[in-house]
Amino acid sequence: MCGIVGYVGNKKCRGFIIDGLKRLEYRGYDSAGFSCFAQSDYLESVKEVGSVKKLEQSLEKKSCDGFCGIGHTRWATHGVASQANAHPHFDCNRKIAVVHNGIIEGFEKIRNELIKLGHNFVSQTDTEVVPHLFEELLKEFELKDALKELVKKLDGAYSFVILNKDYEDRLILVRKKSPLVVGLSEEENFVASDFLAFSDKTQNVVFLPDESITVLRKDKIEIFDFSGNKLNVEAQKIDHKFNDVSKQGFEHYMLKEIYEQKQAINKTISFFSLIENLWGQLGLTTEQVKKLKKINLIAAGTSWHACRIAQFFIEKYCKIPAQIYLASEFRYMPFFRQDDSIFIFVSQSGETADSLEALRLVKSFGVPTIALTNVVSSTMVREADGYLHMQAGPEISVASTKAFSTQLASLFWLSNKIAEQKSLMTDVEMKKAENDLFIAAEILESSIENYKVKITGQLAPFYSKYEKFIFLGRHISYPFSMEAALKLKEISYIFAQCYPAGELKHGPIALIDEKTPIVLFSVLDELIYQKIVSNAQEVKARNGHLLVFAFEGQEELINLADNCFILPRVNPMLVPLAMTGLMQFFVYQITKLLGCPIDKPRNLAKSVTVE
Ligand code: AGP
Repeated sequence: MCGIVGYVGNKKCRGFIIDGLKRLEYRGYDSAGFSCFAQSDYLESVKEVGSVKKLEQSLEKKSCDGFCGIGHTRWATHGVASQANAHPHFDCNRKIAVVHNGIIEGFEKIRNELIKLGHNFVSQTDTEVVPHLFEELLKEFELKDALKELVKKLDGAYSFVILNKDYEDRLILVRKKSPLVVGLSEEENFVASDFLAFSDKTQNVVFLPDESITVLRKDKIEIFDFSGNKLNVEAQKIDHKFNDVSKQGFEHYMLKEIYEQKQAINKTISFFSLIENLWGQLGLTTEQVKKLKKINLIAAGTSWHACRIAQFFIEKYCKIPAQIYLASEFRYMPFFRQDDSIFIFVSQSGETADSLEALRLVKSFGVPTIALTNVVSSTMVREADGYLHMQAGPEISVASTKAFSTQLASLFWLSNKIAEQKSLMTDVEMKKAENDLFIAAEILESSIENYKVKITGQLAPFYSKYEKFIFLGRHISYPFSMEAALKLKEISYIFAQCYPAGELKHGPIALIDEKTPIVLFSVLDELIYQKIVSNAQEVKARNGHLLVFAFEGQEELINLADNCFILPRVNPMLVPLAMTGLMQFFVYQITKLLGCPIDKPRNLAKSVTVE
């Protein structure tokens, strides 16, 4: 997703802005740009397709620097990755520069009206209408009124930062849904789309309110609502230093984060266990928890897969129905308000636009909302009624690994806590559930060590030559097969279809041939396991190639496999968690042999902040 960084102060801005953009690189982008007030009577700028490093090198050849400037990393939504489409974008006289995150809906109409007024556009972006529209409005209105008129005409979810040559001592910030945060310091102030950009400079931050206009000088911040009324917004202290998240010797962040999972899970569960008023932090009373009749979960991508698995936890332990929704679908479905129900929003970043919009919709119905996220300073935490903050640490690789396993652990733990509150579980059983979690986390890690040599030396070289895979699971391992298929697709670009094993015979079995390996994930529910054995036999009866993730004692299934991983037995509800490390490591090694970038796959972003 796009990254915004801005500076106004008594130091030169270029160095900070480039460093800030580098901190936001993990979000994914395809081009970068910079602009500032310099000596000339128009705004200077450099824009490059490709990395921030490339932008930095281009800037070094120019004297483009000043005391107030903006930078941007673009993840293409409207228009290809090109220098012309990179931000900042300018008005006709290069006196206004704009960097933008989000989407401006219906921009084509505005663009056509401005072209009729003689404005000249050089890009395919929605963003470029902003400086030209602002230029047009400044012909008729003073600054503040022009800004009020500007936001009246712009629909969509957007945040932008504006430089205006007539006001060289200030940045103009506009926020509508897409997050924007200000860092306050002595004689200098910062703005970014993500606090990480300046977290080594100040921990004194102001999360700009939705639908707000801000004028930021080096020593002053003024915030208004879209009607121009002054807003008093308290600064917050975020005690979260920017962890200098280096790879610590690993070749990729993804491998580092695969190996961090056991620690992430243990740290998270220990952290949760120390929360004094758990239900209060979730925005609930103990009464509400006891009376709970339904739990809904909403998420996207990998987080949605975690929710699909968590459905089994909730229905087994809490003995109430759970409903899982895709955030991108939820908003367009009828909403049936149910008493004694809650909605849990699961999001690693806490910034996923689809999930945030779904949260806002549920809140509008007055139903309790809880955020389960890995970023405590995220929009989702601020907007939900309650939250649980996972302690997985920053997840940099676009492909989610430790966040996924920590989500599973968190939702397993929470389901048991709710069951305990509902007197469906004793505190001894709760302790056992936590211990089961730690055992599964241990197996998640140890299974990688057990198979590391076989995977890197034999299995990855063998499977890396295939161009398509089918992943099968059943019951609790079906949504896990969805996650496995997504992992392979998103980093290796190999086509991978996931399917319920029981459905194979209803059509997809036609796909079985020697070019398509079948990866089958077992379970520890005895009845379901017998069904999985039958599914494995169906595959073998058609000469399919079978790679199996099985558990100790499952000889019938193991004997059917062409290759198999055998894991120690765990709590049946924790089968996906136990298999996670091995699945991720297997997919990682295949991808590494293919020479893909791994941490920043093509077309993908770490946090999808546009719908
Ligand atoms: C998973 O590997 C992807 N990065 C993606 O599916 C991700 O899980 C999804 O975009 C949701 O992100 P969130 O958890 O930050 O909301």
